[in-house]
Amino acid sequence: MPQLSVIVPTFKERGNVAELVRRLDAALAGIAWEAIFVDDNSPDGTAAAVKEIGADDPRVRCLRRVGRRGLAGACIEGMLSSAAPFVAVIDADLQHDEKVLPQMLAKLTGGDADLVAATRYVEGGSAQGLAGRRDAISRLATRLTHRLVGVPLSDPMSGFFMMRRDRFDEMAPRLSPTGFKILLDIAATGGGKLRIAEQPYSFGERFAGESKFNAQIGVEFLGLLLAKMTGDLVDPRFIFFAIVGTIGLFVHLFALWLLLMFLPPQHDLFRAAQIFATFIAMTSNFLLNNELTYRDRRLKGWSQLKGFVLFCLIGSVGVLANVDLAGWLYVERPIWWVAGAVGAVMSALWNYAMSTLFVWRAR
Ligand code: GDD
Ligand code: MN
Repeated sequence: MPQLSVIVPTFKERGNVAELVRRLDAALAGIAWEAIFVDDNSPDGTAAAVKEIGADDPRVRCLRRVGRRGLAGACIEGMLSSAAPFVAVIDADLQHDEKVLPQMLAKLTGGDADLVAATRYVEGGSAQGLAGRRDAISRLATRLTHRLVGVPLSDPMSGFFMMRRDRFDEMAPRLSPTGFKILLDIAATGGGKLRIAEQPYSFGERFAGESKFNAQIGVEFLGLLLAKMTGDLVDPRFIFFAIVGTIGLFVHLFALWLLLMFLPPQHDLFRAAQIFATFIAMTSNFLLNNELTYRDRRLKGWSQLKGFVLFCLIGSVGVLANVDLAGWLYVERPIWWVAGAVGAVMSALWNYAMSTLFVWRAR
């Protein structure tokens, strides 16, 4: 019976599998361990490479997921499949130093901690393997996280940690399977009840293959931060939608101001300018939502044009509903800002719900 399950999320990591198992075997001598690779059906045959090793070494298993993608979700399913008292998560590309695993385990078996987070940002750790721009992004995200969510982690971006399985099992249903930031999610979800210790290590360079980090992951990370700030009450997608709508208001006013500067001051021209500014704001809202709010369902080419027409139609109905509701409320209770705000919130909810259902449909 293994004491430690090492979960290894993989996507296109065929060239790293054998080397990682070799290094785990050396680092974990004397410990009953197993390695569970969670592969998202990599086209390069990562799963087959793992199973080939598993044929000779029963400590090595592969969980192959089909029709799904995502680092956090892969880690969650891997940990859920374990029956060992302790679980660790480590990247397959050898950037995480497996030699600190025994020290991490010792901290847990000592009984003073529920989770040990490996960190690059304390004495004894380093981030040398992170190239210039990525290092800057990682440090910025770290600072933002410290500002916005209260977690006792010096390196909340880390994807390298070990924890007691019983504590993980308790919180698993509350974790989010999207994005890269599984450790941050666990720490934030566990709150003050989770006792966290840290282990410095030095983040190395990738052995083989390429990084899977991209803009989509950055957006999902922002979403996770926003969700945690509202205590998981508001869906991050709706927060993005509302931010885009607010930006749209400023775009509208700016466009209107520009137009009025250049047009002769006539009453009928104001109407034309207002219509034009509305159109500009709608376009900007649509494009921003396409890039940000619904990035994972981004529309391209022809479907972008179709989506835009639909988005405008939904928005027009939203305006009518807004004006109707506000007017009715104002008659019932003549407080202008209450009526105005209720109308605006209603149409925002309508636009959001309809856009999610019809413009950016889940695939
Ligand atoms: N199953 C699965 N599904 N695994 C994935 C997926 C996915 O969609 N995307 C990435 N992985 C695996 C990779 O195969 C690798 O083993 C590990 O997750 C980390 O992915 P990398 O592509 O190497 O990410 P990185 O090096 O840019 O980022 C890593 O280091 C960062 C340090 O700043 C990650 O550990 C981040 O969480 C960490 O913040
Ligand atoms: Mn990596």
